[in-house]
Amino acid sequence: MSKLIFAGNWKMNMGPAAARDFLKVFLQRYKKESGVEVWIFPPASSIEAVAREVRDRPEIVVGAQHVYWEESGAFTGETSIPIIVDAGARAALVGHSERRHIFGETVEDTGRRARALLDAGLTPVFCVGEKLEQREAGHTEAVVVAQLGGLDGLNASQLSKIVFAYEPVWAIGTGKNATPADAAQVHAAIHNWMAGRGVARRDVTVLYGGSVKPENVVSLISEPTIDGVLVGGASLEAAGWAEIVAARPN
Ligand code: 13P
Repeated sequence: MSKLIFAGNWKMNMGPAAARDFLKVFLQRYKKESGVEVWIFPPASSIEAVAREVRDRPEIVVGAQHVYWEESGAFTGETSIPIIVDAGARAALVGHSERRHIFGETVEDTGRRARALLDAGLTPVFCVGEKLEQREAGHTEAVVVAQLGGLDGLNASQLSKIVFAYEPVWAIGTGKNATPADAAQVHAAIHNWMAGRGVARRDVTVLYGGSVKPENVVSLISEPTIDGVLVGGASLEAAGWAEIVAARPN
């Protein structure tokens, strides 16, 4: 693993004023360290405020939670890639479980979004994960591989620029995290899928997400297949987030 990524997904929380207050506290507590990156995914209207606060901190990446693949036009309510770039974003989440399950994002949609982001030179953070009933039925790997199908048609060079996030749906916002061993199994399946498309292990980055907190982050990032974490609830409080970001593998 070449770097360790701590990504915070603020979901539908934190307007520009709250984002600025958060960054003031966080940046006082955060110490830059080589090989460690902090990524923040604010709601679209706070991207610019966050990007301004971190403009002298290139190790902090700002990203969007959602983009539309068309560049501009009559798509009411959507945000294009050029718009988020203008606001300061360098990455975007794709296929987050809330987008798939609440808003009906399809496998095909995730592919269009990922391709458009890659074409624009941004990093897609491609999220996959199974529901509890799928895990209990033994279908975890099949579900994840079907979700990865959205990326069919991309070549090895494009695939190696994607960051993956395994977020089991049953672990999101529930307080129940996957064990490092549970996550390792799925991370290995993603590695195999990428190997089958000609991407070497060193070019594959897979984060784990789902109820990551200061108390469990060290055990998760100590698992060699976990290259970092994607954090929802525990990324919303600046001091707790600084504690998570300061965690290092055992
Ligand atoms: P929680 O950390 O709140 O479980 O959310 C995880 C998540 O969905 C991050 O994208």
